Amino acid sequence: MAQRIPEAVIENVRSQANILDVVGQFVQLQRSGKEWFGLCPFHSEKTPSFSVNEQKQFFHCFSCNRGGNVFSFLMELEDLSFPEAVYRVAELENIDIDQQYSPQNTASTEQENSENGQLKHLYQTAAELYHYILMQTKIGQPALDYLHQRGLDDALIDEFNLGFAPEQKILAEYFSSHQLGDYQLHRKSGLFIEKNDGTLTDRFFNRVMFPLRNASGQTIAFSGRALVRDERTPKYLNSPETVLFNKGRLLFNFDKAKRLIRKSGQVFLFEGFMDVLAAYQAGITNGIASMGTSLTDEQIYLLRPIAKEVLICYDGDDPGQEATKRAITLLNEAGHFTVKTVALPEKLDPDEFVRKYGAQAFQKNCQENQITVLEFYLEYFKKGRNLQTESGQLAYITDVLSQAAEVDDDLQVELTLTKLAREFALDKASLASQLRVLKQEAGSQRAKAQLESPLVKVTNAEHYSKVELAQRTLIHYLLNEPNAYLYVANLPSFQFENVDYQALYLLIQGYFSKYQTYIGGQFLDYLGDENLKKLVVSIEMEDYGAYSEEELKDCIYVIDNEAPLDTRLVSVKRELEQAKRQNEPTKIMELTTQYIELVKLKQTVADDNR
Ligand code: CTP
Ligand code: MN
Repeated sequence: MAQRIPEAVIENVRSQANILDVVGQFVQLQRSGKEWFGLCPFHSEKTPSFSVNEQKQFFHCFSCNRGGNVFSFLMELEDLSFPEAVYRVAELENIDIDQQYSPQNTASTEQENSENGQLKHLYQTAAELYHYILMQTKIGQPALDYLHQRGLDDALIDEFNLGFAPEQKILAEYFSSHQLGDYQLHRKSGLFIEKNDGTLTDRFFNRVMFPLRNASGQTIAFSGRALVRDERTPKYLNSPETVLFNKGRLLFNFDKAKRLIRKSGQVFLFEGFMDVLAAYQAGITNGIASMGTSLTDEQIYLLRPIAKEVLICYDGDDPGQEATKRAITLLNEAGHFTVKTVALPEKLDPDEFVRKYGAQAFQKNCQENQITVLEFYLEYFKKGRNLQTESGQLAYITDVLSQAAEVDDDLQVELTLTKLAREFALDKASLASQLRVLKQEAGSQRAKAQLESPLVKVTNAEHYSKVELAQRTLIHYLLNEPNAYLYVANLPSFQFENVDYQALYLLIQGYFSKYQTYIGGQFLDYLGDENLKKLVVSIEMEDYGAYSEEELKDCIYVIDNEAPLDTRLVSVKRELEQAKRQNEPTKIMELTTQYIELVKLKQTVADDNR
């Protein structure tokens, strides 16, 4: 039975963890005043709009409006449930936590009833059905033969829950006869294609099915490989993106590989997931792959906290070499990693290599044929060049040196210079001085790029109406100023104008009846509701100037006196517009008078308030 993590354990993790350390393992942060800024890991951007406030233990992105505490950060980033995130924070921060709270032992009860939980249940059911068809039925036999012929044995097929979606579509029928999920859930699952009349039909048929799992090992999508190649359909068909599946954030096999990656510090990066499976079968179990797209920053963030060394083992053909160069560049930009490539002979891909030369030869190749980044470039830049001509040689040497300028490992650079000097009968010292020039250029370009992307910080005060700003300021005071809280709590009939702020106020009262002091990160978990959490984070990431009782009273006055006027103004205006549309002269007259009076009244109140 699912085990809930006791409040005291959560509290212990929360109080010892520092959001800055945790986020810092995924995002490069720069300090600016009280806050730390960086590129948001949840979407791609060129200028930082993501910030972390260490004092409040919050993060917030004012571009995508995500925000929360250390737990929400990991829940969002690694698609974890709350208990999983608690455990993960403990792991990342080396905080003692009992094994019984590890994800294996805390299958999250909360999530089972949520929509995401229901979707995961659908995927799991579909995966099991496809697997059953593959292993136990006659229609699955050709697909099973195919996988065997590709060198995968039954143990591996079981472990990865591979399956087969037959020609005759079965899933829609199966779900409805077992009453699994409703129409809307099926639509959202991406397992079906919606026909013009709105009916749903299986997306996958006549395909070998590969369940795609998230970092916690839950199936959240599929990729299907055509059993029979046909020009009219793609070789691989992936699930469309859904709330749970984001191609750029998923690494195939990350859930199974991460333990060994963490332990050894080493990860093998493959191009296709058949390569991951072939390598796994051959005994290399710390292999992962992106899903038919080039590696993304977000995937690199997943690797950062657990891997030191990335071994790129892409296909030996030309596209594979291009992809290798892209991956090296991205990984170098992230800093942190030692990057090497594994060379494969005869333009083979890893899967072909295993089939041709066997598991042992593959293991041996992966260990012994590791190549440094600069060795890779020494080969790579030869392609398409005539090295017999002087201009060809110069261009080649410049390309290699410009990559050497990006490498911090002095020995590696030395070796490369020696090789170049020998190959082209050059003086090593002149190569070294050329390298220094390139390094300086690279350095000053980086500095320039940094200057061109100044940290942007919004001052929201301008975006809000007066009443809205007063409410936000007051919430901020209620949380952060005990005196303000006492003062407002003693007002007999105070109310916020907006329902969300009022709801927050009630929750703040509940929170302070349970806890003595306000701790931002803790308050968020107390709230529960996602929208309210976001609201609190966005309020708390803004600046409200110094607190005084004067300021406090101003806020209350504005909310008490201007808010009702605002609300009435809006409704009179709406009625007026309607009257105009319906052409009712008397009503228009009446409402216009009312409207003008309200505006005047508001003016007086505002003047009083000055
Ligand atoms: N891919 C894709 N769509 C395609 C072809 C490839 O999404 N039409 C993705 C898949 O994720 C695949 C990866 O790109 O794993 C690498 O492609 P490829 O090298 O063609 O895959 P292989 O592993 O060689 O596939 P196979 O051996 O089954 O032919
Ligand atoms: Mn292949």
